Amino acid sequence: MNTEQIMAFANGLAGYADTPSDSAIYNSGDGIKRVLAGIDVGVGELLAAKQLGYDLVLAHHPLGIPGGWHFYKEHERHLLEAGVPADAAREAVSARFLEFELRDHVANHDHVGSYARLIGMPLMNIHAVADELGRRVLQAKIDDALAAGSDATVGDVCDAVSAIPEIANSPTDVVVRVGDRTNKAGRVKMAHGCYTNGGYEVAQAYWRNGVRTVCYIHVMGDALKKLMAEPNPGNLIITGHISSDEIGMNILVDALRHQGLEVDAVSGLRMRGN
Ligand SMILES: [Fe+2]
Ligand SMILES: [Fe+2]
Repeated sequence: MNTEQIMAFANGLAGYADTPSDSAIYNSGDGIKRVLAGIDVGVGELLAAKQLGYDLVLAHHPLGIPGGWHFYKEHERHLLEAGVPADAAREAVSARFLEFELRDHVANHDHVGSYARLIGMPLMNIHAVADELGRRVLQAKIDDALAAGSDATVGDVCDAVSAIPEIANSPTDVVVRVGDRTNKAGRVKMAHGCYTNGGYEVAQAYWRNGVRTVCYIHVMGDALKKLMAEPNPGNLIITGHISSDEIGMNILVDALRHQGLEVDAVSGLRMRGN
């Protein structure tokens, strides 16, 4: 396979017609048989891959794609699906656009990619596809817990998510950051697969529109402080960043193996069975 075929194949797994803005090929390659996959990849991993005879380095996190953050708008689709009014959904999502634009002006957009081309190592990242595949697994686990009874608690949701192998074997725990394990869960949304967590505004929009429990894979301190100060807070569950990213990446890697590729995992990605 070549890098373009791998990207198209991945897009198909999540049902995306086009490559999401947070995923890219930084150095194309063909005849790919051996892949080194990781959550985060830097220049060191490229050199190691070259020495060890890999044909492609596959990262999860984007490596300086200008405008990659536009996939954050995917939160709006999920908010609308959950019944949040269109104006409120648009407002909640646009709240972080300036922050992302400012970050774009800070970032080095061709750091790792330039080294990949210099040493002749094919390099790509697949972000949204893996996170969407992971989101489906997480939401399905949550929905199973909710189906067990209308009295399902926040703790039941945490336990259900914690049973997923990648999270069960993670060094981090699933944590309730706002609310309490004994609270009734109500409607629950796994808000993931949209470039990054929805910060203060997306969780607030869910809470205010009938989704009483929001799950993120991570949250930053400033957003959390504001959510904790909300007058009528719902619940916020944090599932853990790298272990939650692993869920989708493992599905992707399994699918690539079924295509005949040999894939080894490093950098936060612990393959099932490794
Ligand atoms: Fe991530
Ligand atoms: Fe991710």
